[in-house]
Amino acid sequence: MPERIIGKVGRIVGPVIEAREVVGVEMLELVFVGAERLVGEVVRVRHKSAWIQVYEDTTGLRPGAPVYGQGEPLSVELGPGLIGGIYDGVQRPLDVIRLRSGDFVSKGVHVPALDRDRTWHFSPLVKVGGHASPGMIIGTVQETDLIEHRIMLPPGVAGNVVEIVQEGDYSVDDVVARISGNGDDREIRLFQKWPVRTGRPYANRQPHVTPLITGQRVLDTLFPVARGGVVVVPGGFGTGKTMIQHALAKWCDADIVVYIGCGERGNEMTEVLLEFPKLVDPRTGRYLMERTILIANTSNMPVAAREASIYTGITIAEYYRDMGYHVAVMADSTSRWAEALRELSGRMEEMPADEGFPAYLPTRLAEFYERAGMVETLSGREGSITTIGAVSPPGGDFSEPVTQHTKRFVRAFWALDKQLANARHYPSVSWLESYTEYADDVAEWWEERTRGDSKELRSTIASIMQREARLERVVKLVGADVLPDSQRLILEVARMFKDAFLQQNAFDEVDAFCVAEKQYRMLKIIISFYTLGSDAIKKGGTLVGLKKLPVVRDIMQMKFECPNDQPEKLDELHKKLEESIHEFGSLFA
Ligand SMILES: Nc1ncnc2c1ncn2[C@@H]1O[C@H](COP(=O)(O)OP(=O)(O)OP(=O)(O)O)[C@@H](O)[C@H]1O
Ligand SMILES: [Mg+2]
Repeated sequence: MPERIIGKVGRIVGPVIEAREVVGVEMLELVFVGAERLVGEVVRVRHKSAWIQVYEDTTGLRPGAPVYGQGEPLSVELGPGLIGGIYDGVQRPLDVIRLRSGDFVSKGVHVPALDRDRTWHFSPLVKVGGHASPGMIIGTVQETDLIEHRIMLPPGVAGNVVEIVQEGDYSVDDVVARISGNGDDREIRLFQKWPVRTGRPYANRQPHVTPLITGQRVLDTLFPVARGGVVVVPGGFGTGKTMIQHALAKWCDADIVVYIGCGERGNEMTEVLLEFPKLVDPRTGRYLMERTILIANTSNMPVAAREASIYTGITIAEYYRDMGYHVAVMADSTSRWAEALRELSGRMEEMPADEGFPAYLPTRLAEFYERAGMVETLSGREGSITTIGAVSPPGGDFSEPVTQHTKRFVRAFWALDKQLANARHYPSVSWLESYTEYADDVAEWWEERTRGDSKELRSTIASIMQREARLERVVKLVGADVLPDSQRLILEVARMFKDAFLQQNAFDEVDAFCVAEKQYRMLKIIISFYTLGSDAIKKGGTLVGLKKLPVVRDIMQMKFECPNDQPEKLDELHKKLEESIHEFGSLFA
């Protein structure tokens, strides 16, 4: 459908407008509004009126101005050049300056998301006469040193390859192949478009078996998420949501990271932009920006674009998943996103439900989270999207609608605790309130990489932490002095676990992230301290004596002192622990 006038501007209510005398418009159609051609999307159609969500500042717009239908839904451009990119919620390229100021240099200027002047070295993988099926990879482009960009046939394109270019340099809109089938001749370019509100197809869903290693001990060891999983991180004001999301974006072992900053402060996003380009991936030795895409709709940018931002981000994630990559998506904060939804709904005078949010809030959340998963792609590869959404419940009250609805769609809950944050225990993930349903899915992965006892260690520490919580209640009433040393050891081990293991300093060079092998050994040492210590106490040793052993200091420092590339160093510490407790115990034998 070509561009045509579909109606006139009627009411202008901030970021939404009501178009009148509307004919032949489609729901979710992309439109340009007024002489300035502001980008908008049709979100409701009723008789001759249509509500349009406008992704740019509407000041200056006048009633009566024409609305141009584009005959296609709001879409993103998918092709080489996305990585390292910084986009707003509707995929307009941003730079650091604009992130700070929040305004667009000029309204209605339609800059393509992918640079048309840049060329890419394309190597074809198919031959003329070959069979072509949807999602098939017809060639590659080295997008960054880390990422080979696999050029795929768009979903729905099938037939025979009637033309394929030779290896060489092409821009994203050069035709590189022609596919003929069902009486249709399709030109294939290095980029394709896809509507943001529709999930891209895949062959089938696969079970979750591999963890997404985040490098954060409290998460990987106690509350793991599987590749393809969905997590929510709820936390009150200042509890460390953004720090956790940043840590994940930096250190998680995904191939590609899509970071969506929705409604957060502009300076937080600029910090990311200034910091990220300098960071080096410890696993690959390459710059992290070579695998990262940023979507930023900060608090000072148009609110409608914030609503679209999470769909823009997840669509880009799906595109890389379809190439056979493991993608991690972070959204900070989905509460700011939900507030955008509420504002738009309110402006359209819709009937509000819980706390002013529209009744379709849960549907919209589902439409975002459901797009995560581990799949077999159309081309038969394995790809995944792991989605981690932050929620900022007002007053830290998890019973509010966004947290509650989100809980229905996620299988892991990393609850941030105000008291822990106040005590500067970071990450402030509560070990009592958080949960994960992925632990069994990833148990085998851990068992294979450890000595087959990781499951047992995990359940031992969980029971110690639960016993500690119960004992703490007793201590509050009567004091610790009345407890026998065998029980005070539980308190001591719990404290050791919190300080030496759970706490992780995001600003420490060694401790900012922790490889799985180091996490496992650290946990094993702490559990051994408990089991060997219990025996020594049974034999007549005292807790005071046990705590004075020099090896305790080494345990407290092991997170800082053991480098990530030499986790086996901890085996020496484990041996030293065994020897010193043995020696200590033999004093009483
Ligand atoms: N892992 C960590 N290591 C060290 N300090 C941390 C860590 N996590 C959080 N902090 C401290 O807590 C502060 C607040 O963290 P952060 O900005 O992530 O909170 P937030 O929950 O995103 O806040 P807001 O509600 O304002 O969005 C940080 O500036 C930092 O000083
Ligand atoms: Mg934050």
